[in-house]
Amino acid sequence: MNLEERLEDILEGTIPGHVAIIPDGNGRWAHNRGLERTEGHRQGTKRAEDLIEFIAKKLPIDFLTFYTFSTENWSRPDSEVKFLMSLLKDLLGKRGGKLLKNDVRLKVIGDIDGLPERTAKVVRKTVEKTSDNDGLRLILALNYGGRQEILTAVRELASRVTGGALSSDEITEKVFQSHLYTSGVPDPDLLIRTSGERRISNFMLWQLAYTEIWITEEFWPSFKPENFLEAISDFQQRERRFGRVDKGKNDQ
Ligand code: IPE
Ligand code: IPE
Ligand code: MG
Repeated sequence: MNLEERLEDILEGTIPGHVAIIPDGNGRWAHNRGLERTEGHRQGTKRAEDLIEFIAKKLPIDFLTFYTFSTENWSRPDSEVKFLMSLLKDLLGKRGGKLLKNDVRLKVIGDIDGLPERTAKVVRKTVEKTSDNDGLRLILALNYGGRQEILTAVRELASRVTGGALSSDEITEKVFQSHLYTSGVPDPDLLIRTSGERRISNFMLWQLAYTEIWITEEFWPSFKPENFLEAISDFQQRERRFGRVDKGKNDQ
């Protein structure tokens, strides 16, 4: 099956409303080719751009989230962190037009104030610039940590309780959720991780409770729309039970 045929096939099934991606393996991809890790990041960014464009044009997915930089990634060498920050600034600044062209609306989750000032500025500007777009909602997790997100929500709730605006038994799942960075965003239906790693590395700890997980050995800089369709097709074969008993199968 070629790409178009595969796409047609997939469009007949259930399309996940929210797909989250942990694009891993940039460094190993580069190492295997005798290149610097930064070259892996550069190629990886291109693959992300290609995939965003493909999805925006061809698939009725509402939300696409990329784990772009974790709270733990600050412990990488300074030069790599600097490179990643400036890559991000260039991607949104110089080529931000590409996002606008495809009617993509950007949202960012994570501690933006903790990013270098120039990067934070470009990020905020792009969010603002794309705010009237009503196509794909692209979410970049930047300086993001799942534990930090939960702690931030807990602190906000605690101060509302202390201030008397809320009682502790009013803290329901719905209220808690509304204090997360992803307030108003449905939980991911599908999580894709590249490079064969079988862990979630502090990503969306609350939101991934019932997400289907798909892992590929492919390193991110080699990940193509074909691989994405493979993940969707696999998702379409899954039976999501959410803790229930599958109706019909176990009836006696
Ligand atoms: C993912 O690739 C990109 C980021 C975390 C920013 P890595 O840089 O983690 O690549 P590997 O895992 O070392 O190969
Ligand atoms: C997860 O990848 C973070 C991002 C892709 C931004 P890492 O490469 O940082 O995760 P670990 O260290 O392998 O768990
Ligand atoms: Mg990695």
